[in-house]
Amino acid sequence: MVMHGTTGFNCCLVAYGQTGTGKTHTVHGDWQSQEQRGLLPRISEGLFERLEQFRAEGASWRVRISYIEVYNDRLRDLLEHAAPSQPRTESDSPSPRRHSKPGTAAGSRLEIRNHPAVGVYVENLQELPVEHLRDVARLVSKGEKAKKVERTTMNDRSSRSHTIFIFKVEVRDATNGDHMSTMQVVDLAGRENEQTSECKGDRFRELRHINRSLFDLASCIHALCDGNRDHVPFRNSKLTMLLSDSLASNSRTTLLATLTPSPAGFDENILTCRFLESTGRITTQPVINHFGAAEVQKTLQDEIANLQSTLVEEAVIASRQTLLKQFSQVWSDHHLQAAAWAIASNPS
Ligand SMILES: Nc1ncnc2c1ncn2[C@@H]1O[C@H](COP(=O)(O)OP(=O)(O)O)[C@@H](O)[C@H]1O
Ligand SMILES: [Mg+2]
Repeated sequence: MVMHGTTGFNCCLVAYGQTGTGKTHTVHGDWQSQEQRGLLPRISEGLFERLEQFRAEGASWRVRISYIEVYNDRLRDLLEHAAPSQPRTESDSPSPRRHSKPGTAAGSRLEIRNHPAVGVYVENLQELPVEHLRDVARLVSKGEKAKKVERTTMNDRSSRSHTIFIFKVEVRDATNGDHMSTMQVVDLAGRENEQTSECKGDRFRELRHINRSLFDLASCIHALCDGNRDHVPFRNSKLTMLLSDSLASNSRTTLLATLTPSPAGFDENILTCRFLESTGRITTQPVINHFGAAEVQKTLQDEIANLQSTLVEEAVIASRQTLLKQFSQVWSDHHLQAAAWAIASNPS
């Protein structure tokens, strides 16, 4: 993931499995322990190590992070209160991807947007600059405190929401070209059987939202497996909207599944393995995201060429319509004239 993310490829890692099987443990683990660290601290460390190598070779880089929670099909910015007091301005972001409106204050409503060139992004989401592993660790720990976690019968600290940790990496490299990538680590909330669950009240409502969004995710995976890319129901839930690019287009995506060793979880393990098997049949189309001046110029030139050809087509259609109108006028005049001639030459 680090190799791809620092080469300009979008990448995504999704942890999936029944509740209590170790998704959060695998993703986070213990950030303070060298041995018990999860994937996210290891990815962060690898990322900065590689970027420091780039710096030694003359390149420059910038990393920004965001941490988002999908709770009961609503989005929350887990780094909202970790943001610096200064609101972001447009000049903060030299990258073509801009996730905040200029001057947007923290607490603004998060909206999922889809831009034809940029892809899916969350408007008003904080993107905080980081330079070291310790910056990431500090912000993660703030974000973790804001996360919806409850004690359930299956897990003492059960995540009641899906979380997506996002790195935005920009590398300016005169030799290999400027490129950027989005690296996402997704810790899904766990599926739980509604019939056998002992959750009640708010916990049961959360559980229904979790199961519903995981069902929507499975529906998208099945549609993608069937090759039915025009009708993938990504819009059914916030989670699937957020993951649509990672599942279907420009991303190198990995699914990590966790299983339970308990015999009681046999059926759930089978469902997880089936899900894993389905996702393995999906292909994405990862490309290197260049963003240097030359690339931006080329994108704009392509857009101008497209608009010009559309204008020419419109002009041709419009002139055809004018000609058709003139022709029908001449035609009807001609008929009137012919009728007048017929009447004049044959008065009886
Ligand atoms: N491989 C593991 N080694 C040690 N403890 C684990 C392991 N996997 C899970 N756990 C423990 O099991 C409990 C549930 O794990 P968690 O990661 O919260 O599950 P999930 O996120 O899948 O609901 C936690 O207390 C966690 O520390
Ligand atoms: Mg969890």
